[in-house]
Amino acid sequence: MRPYNLKFPFRWESREPLLLDRVLYVPQCYDRHGLWPKEELKEFLSSFKSIAVEYCSGNGLWVAEKAQECPSKLWIAVEKRFDRVQRIWAKKHNLSLQNLLVVCGEAEAFTKYYLEPDLVDQIFINFPDPWPKARHAKKRIVQDSFVREMARISKLGAETVLVTDDEPYSSQMSFEMMKGGLWSSLIPEPFYKTDWPEYGTSFFESLWKTQGKEIRYMKFKKIQENGMKS
Ligand SMILES: C[S@@+](CC[C@H](N)C(=O)[O-])C[C@H]1O[C@@H](n2cnc3c(N)ncnc32)[C@H](O)[C@@H]1O
Repeated sequence: MRPYNLKFPFRWESREPLLLDRVLYVPQCYDRHGLWPKEELKEFLSSFKSIAVEYCSGNGLWVAEKAQECPSKLWIAVEKRFDRVQRIWAKKHNLSLQNLLVVCGEAEAFTKYYLEPDLVDQIFINFPDPWPKARHAKKRIVQDSFVREMARISKLGAETVLVTDDEPYSSQMSFEMMKGGLWSSLIPEPFYKTDWPEYGTSFFESLWKTQGKEIRYMKFKKIQENGMKS
C-alpha cells in the first residue's frame, strides 16, 4: 500500500466521526462529537488488556516500531494532518499491524470526547511542535487542560513520556505536568534525562540527533485517582 491509497472519506461540509479500516476520523471545527455512537470503538478498545497512546505521531515511524515489538498491546497513533495519517496507515497495512489504531484528528478533542476514564497504561508525546514565539506558546499541546485530560484517561500508576529538543518547552512541560498533583516525575530533578538508548526512533529524533541537538526525555506517573480533588 502507498500512503495515497488512503482517501479522505468525506467532504468537509458533510464531515462526521467515522471508524473505518482501523482509522478513526475525528472531525475538526465540529461540535457534535457527543452524538456519535461509540459502541464499536468501545468494543474494539476493550478487546485489548493494555493500551498505549502516542499523540502527534507524524509519519508513525516510532509507533509502528513499537506496535511490532509489542503485539499484545493496542497502540493508538493520533495525528491531525491527513497526509501524515496516510503514511501511518500505509505502515499499518504494509507491516500487517492488527494492534494499531490510527486517529485522524486533534489530540485534545479525541481524548475528551472519545476516550473513557481509567483506560490507558501509557502515553507518549514525541517532539510536539514547540511554538517557540511567546505569542504562539498557547498553541503548545502540553497545557493544563490537556494534562488533566491525559490524567483522566490514564489508569492509576500509568506513565506518560514526553520528549523534546526544546529547552524552554521541556521546563514548561515538567511544570505543567506536576503543578496539579496528578502526575509525579519518575526522573529526579531536573526531571529529564538526555539519553535513552532503547527508546525507539522517530523521524524528528533522528533529525535532531544528526544535528547534534540535546534530546530531553521526561517520564511521569499518574499518582491521583480520578475524582479526587487536585
Ligand atoms: C514535530 S512533529 C513530530 C512528529 C513525530 N512525533 C516525530 O517525532 O517525528 C509534530 C506532529 O504533531 C502533529 N500535531 C501537532 N499538534 C497536534 C494536535 N493538537 N493533535 C494531533 N496532532 C498534532 C503535527 O501535525 C506533526 O505531525
